[in-house]
Amino acid sequence: TASILRMTIGFNLQTDVQVKGPPKVYMNKKSEYGNEGDSIVLTCKSSSYPSIEQWKWYKDYEGEANVILVNDTEGRMSIISTPEKTELHINSADIKEDPGKYICNGTNSEGSDTAVITLKVRSRLAALWPFLGIVAEVLILVIIIFIYEKRSRTDDIPEDEDGGAAPLKSSSAVNEKGSNIRQSNSN
Ligand SMILES: *[C@@H]1O[C@H](CO)[C@@H](O)[C@H](O)[C@H]1NC(C)=O
Ligand SMILES: *[C@@H]1O[C@H](CO)[C@@H](O)[C@H](O)[C@H]1NC(C)=O
Repeated sequence: TASILRMTIGFNLQTDVQVKGPPKVYMNKKSEYGNEGDSIVLTCKSSSYPSIEQWKWYKDYEGEANVILVNDTEGRMSIISTPEKTELHINSADIKEDPGKYICNGTNSEGSDTAVITLKVRSRLAALWPFLGIVAEVLILVIIIFIYEKRSRTDDIPEDEDGGAAPLKSSSAVNEKGSNIRQSNSN
């Protein structure tokens, strides 16, 4: 039992020594995509030892100083953090305000680290495009079938002499007469 105890102590010491240091923070993705009006969650994690004492989120406005993000009073943006991870919740994503780069910063007693994620927000219409494509395809198919059916129906008409063809004939007769009159006038 003494050797087992020594081994356990040795193991614990080793892991402590190996892992202790400045934190490493990371995000699972380089970019996140959302639709306008959706709820979006950006997650930043760390398994560092000592654990993260303070998490911060910034928005990177290119060329300007980063803006620190905090819970906003209207509840559109909120930050939920534990020592292992931090989540930035964006409710009802805005296509003008929200796209861009988000930076998360985790700090422990040994130092700090940052990670970046790019958020892209698509308009509701863009989300509809695949659906509109299908609707257009179906419409074209229906039109083709309609034209085809109409054609095969007009092909049947000559067999039925008293049908829709009769008014056409009389109107063409009028036209012939008219042209005859015009012809005689010019002569
Ligand atoms: C921000 O809001 C979340 C959820 O509403 C809450 O858990 C968290 O403690 C808040 N943070 C601050 C700094 O008020
Ligand atoms: C991250 O936060 C720590 C603690 O507030 C700060 O000292 C450090 O400069 C920050 N790092 C960056 C890159 O903003």
